[in-house]
Amino acid sequence: MDIGVIGCGYVGLVTGACLAELGHSVICVDSNDRKIEMLKMLKPPIYEPGLSTLLEKNKKRLTFTTKISDAVKGAPVIFIAVGTPSKGSGDADLSQVENVVSEIAGCMDSYRLIVEKSTVPVQTGMKIKSVMEMRVKGIPFDVASNPEFLREGTAIDDFLHPDRVVIGVETGKAKDIMKKIYEPISAPIIFTDIKSAEIIKHASNSFLATKISFINAVSIVCELAGANVEEVARGMGLDRRIGDRFLNAGVGFGGSCFPKDISAFRRISDKLGYKFNLLKETERINELIKKKFVEKMEEVLWNLNGKIIGVLGLAFKPNTDDMRSAPSIDIINGLLEDGARVVAYDPVAMGNAKEVLPEIDYKNDIYEVANGADCLVILTEWDVFRNMDIQKVKNLLKTPIIFDGRNIFEREKMEELGFIYIGVGV
Ligand code: UDX
Repeated sequence: MDIGVIGCGYVGLVTGACLAELGHSVICVDSNDRKIEMLKMLKPPIYEPGLSTLLEKNKKRLTFTTKISDAVKGAPVIFIAVGTPSKGSGDADLSQVENVVSEIAGCMDSYRLIVEKSTVPVQTGMKIKSVMEMRVKGIPFDVASNPEFLREGTAIDDFLHPDRVVIGVETGKAKDIMKKIYEPISAPIIFTDIKSAEIIKHASNSFLATKISFINAVSIVCELAGANVEEVARGMGLDRRIGDRFLNAGVGFGGSCFPKDISAFRRISDKLGYKFNLLKETERINELIKKKFVEKMEEVLWNLNGKIIGVLGLAFKPNTDDMRSAPSIDIINGLLEDGARVVAYDPVAMGNAKEVLPEIDYKNDIYEVANGADCLVILTEWDVFRNMDIQKVKNLLKTPIIFDGRNIFEREKMEELGFIYIGVGV
């Protein structure tokens, strides 16, 4: 099929490349000239394992342009994957979606299926429909909701081998088109109405974030009681109704989705007449866990003023260069406020980190960070940190103290090696 994808950000680009991999011809649109120029040379403007290879492999089925009209003229199906950032109020800012829809309507000359791919609050489909109706003057169209569940770092696999594909439609025609698009994918396809599809996305992400905040709250109780949250999570996770995934205690969740989606879901629930206070608590715990981590450092190191803190890991999670809402930002700012000097290393996120954390010293590897530092702090669980030469690190540190914000090491082993080890809830 011919498909247009508007927006070459994370979601749009992965969606475009994967739809091409499924055999479709895809016209990818972005208003940013520089991005499109890079993409024409098959260089992805974001870091995602496998994306470059996928673009190269499917280059004959991929076109890149800055004009929405090229996509609308060339394809009967248009996926909208533009940004829906948070406004100061926590509401999703849907102005990019509205602008794109108006532009699509302005250059349509026959039936088009408009697919919402960006994460949007429930009832956005309805609003897209009314903007279209006002502008297309009688030309037939359908709207569908097809939320993405991609995780950064494994986005391609998540797209091509998903747990499920969720599609909200209102007509048989739209359903048939969507069925055809996803035919090569062997996963259950959930066809539902548009509003339910929209809520599936917000509810799924909010549920996962709540699961993380839940285990982080349990980690606080474990610390107070002298229990071990890793053991607790293992014991809970073996119950198949609970499951062991997203039950890792740490310094909290970040990224481009969870923080934004929870607040958008809370705001839309509010507007509809229900105060979703559970989600407010999920957010509060996520802030609290970072504060407590800095407090633990103050307790052990006493005065942070003038101390050199070696930080390993800045990205909000491993295998990505994404710094959006990364817990490292709040934690490092907390340390800087207390007068500490921070030296840091991340395998891929340092370029982006320099923009949000300009005051810290960036180093070339783990050992440069450890050299002369008063302690080591792990904020992202990259494999290279798990496999570091721990003896060498110990010799380089001024004092052998590790604050492990992702529980990648075991307390007993670290203590045997002569470290003062402080994890989360262990
Ligand atoms: C998430 C959703 O998983 C995905 O379905 C959606 O489409 C986009 O948002 P992503 O933001 O890429 O994906 O990251 P994810 O792997 O879900 O992790 C989110 C955050 O939670 C990270 O900061 C991670 O470190 C944290 N996390 C995750 C925990 O602290 N503990 C866990 O057990 C799991």
